Amino acid sequence: MALSYGLSLNTSFVSFTQSQCNLGNQIISVERVSQYMDIPSQAAEVIEDNRPLPDWPQNGNVEIRHLKIRYRIDAPLVLHGITCNFEGGDKIGIVGRTGSGKTTLIGALFRLVEPDEGKIFIDSVDISMIGLHDLRSRLGIIPQDPTLFQGTIRYNLDPLGQFSDEKIWEVRFYTANYVVFPHLTQ
Ligand SMILES: Nc1ncnc2c1ncn2[C@@H]1O[C@H](COP(=O)(O)OP(=O)(O)O)[C@@H](O)[C@H]1O
Ligand SMILES: [Mg+2]
Repeated sequence: MALSYGLSLNTSFVSFTQSQCNLGNQIISVERVSQYMDIPSQAAEVIEDNRPLPDWPQNGNVEIRHLKIRYRIDAPLVLHGITCNFEGGDKIGIVGRTGSGKTTLIGALFRLVEPDEGKIFIDSVDISMIGLHDLRSRLGIIPQDPTLFQGTIRYNLDPLGQFSDEKIWEVRFYTANYVVFPHLTQ
């Protein structure tokens, strides 16, 4: 009797362990959801009272004033008060060792991280005052890691379907390090 009970213990242990793991996973899901509920939402997509002109940015002049950035309130500053001016149409290379904040600076142009202090103006428009969609849809970026979306090459060139086939054939891409102002190519 002991032997026959002993043998079936094996299967019982397996299903016991499986149900314990399942329970663990499901409890983690609840924990995740409750964590996500407290995430502060990002800034408004479009601010109706303060929309840039349809052809903004006209020149692509980028003016950075006393820009200070940190990733968390209690984290040290990553950019310590940068002030500089990039003229429209110039090709600028930003050089620095790993971790010096090059990617952070590009992220700041797209407001992936909001400045702690300081301002960025693109063609005299303070980018912190306009909606995120208005800002991000007017700038282009060629990222370090190549990414293709699933679909046709045409879809990858124009994911929002805004341009005609003729227009896409016409476009010449100027690739100045990371950031491209698409209107300059026209
Ligand atoms: N998402 C992040 N959260 C916290 N710290 C970050 C984050 N991204 C970058 N950092 C920190 O910011 C500093 C600058 O990083 P980064 O802008 O990626 O430099 P670079 O692109 O010049 O190598 C580094 O010290 C890095 O650890
Ligand atoms: Mg980087």
